[in-house]
Amino acid sequence: MKVDGKPYRTIWLGADSTTVQVIDQTMLPHRFVIRDLRAMEDAERAIRTMIVRGAPLIGAAAAYGMALAMAADPSDAMLARAYSVLLASRPTAVNLRWALDDLRARLSLLPQGDRREAAYRRAAEICDEDAEICRRIGEHGLAEVKRLKPRGERLNALTHCNAGWLATVDWGTALAPIYQAHNSGIPIHVWVDETRPRNQGASLTAWELGKHGVPHTVIADNAGGHLMQRGKVDFCIVGTDRTTRRGDVCNKIGTYLKALAAHDNGVPFYVGLPYPSIDWTIEDGHRDIPIEERSAAELSRLSGRGENGEVLSIDILPEGSPAANPAFDVTPARLVTALITERGACAASEAGLLSLYPEQARAA
Ligand code: MRU
Repeated sequence: MKVDGKPYRTIWLGADSTTVQVIDQTMLPHRFVIRDLRAMEDAERAIRTMIVRGAPLIGAAAAYGMALAMAADPSDAMLARAYSVLLASRPTAVNLRWALDDLRARLSLLPQGDRREAAYRRAAEICDEDAEICRRIGEHGLAEVKRLKPRGERLNALTHCNAGWLATVDWGTALAPIYQAHNSGIPIHVWVDETRPRNQGASLTAWELGKHGVPHTVIADNAGGHLMQRGKVDFCIVGTDRTTRRGDVCNKIGTYLKALAAHDNGVPFYVGLPYPSIDWTIEDGHRDIPIEERSAAELSRLSGRGENGEVLSIDILPEGSPAANPAFDVTPARLVTALITERGACAASEAGLLSLYPEQARAA
């Protein structure tokens, strides 16, 4: 997607063909900063501190982390160390494990002298594949969206967190159908949940929609249910960090509440997802998905631009009040209208997913 007229992806290889470059998402929306990742440890830190975030981008960054590790030392010991260090960087998005499993399986079969090049090649393929997958999610999502009858003059979508191009390599998952609808001339407007505590909606989704010229309005996380009751939301669409083989959807904390409100108000609730976000090894999202607990400081401190343009950080809690910060929740499959993948849309159920991915059927 373009930033001020210049095309960008969220991650790319630098001119020296070794350094990896990323957009620092902790600095948005106030500053557009590009960071260099020169070692596997840089990639790990970038994922852990959310310089890069969003399930598909976390997978791509981990793949490049493996490549950086192989550039430093292509030994079996480093392969094992890079795998475990990168895997521990964030627990919930399954794309991380998917990318690391993929790289490890390929690299472990190769002589050490071939690993560096193979790792960079595969990381680049994963990035290209992610961009193409997201483009296709956009096409299939557009077909769904075209079936909806807007209640007003334009179609009103509601999204939570950031599942746009910043969360992927390009296009996004939930936002890809919105970009495609906008690009094809469908009048569309997006209600953007601010997404406390890290405000990925207010800081990232609003920024990228604005850069692309998509009409949008940021709302407090608590406003969505009210807007749905008033008929101001035609559909909800979100991404996912991990979806089980039965169609339970783990996504940014607060998604479940939006799905409940959508269900109560007869508003379709869609999930855009690429195949690496499906965890075929588990069925029950509540039981089996590790939910990341993040620092209470994310809740107690707010950061934003001050009157003179400087970025400030302020405390909002009374001294001594404890805070808890679970970062994800699980929306049960029964509340999801459809899953939209690169292969098409399906019911949120094992049968629905297997109709698109028959190769994942268990042997009888
Ligand atoms: O904690 P984050 O920002 O990495 O959260 C991930 C997300 O952006 C969302 O949960 C998103 O909807 C899924 S990733 C496309």
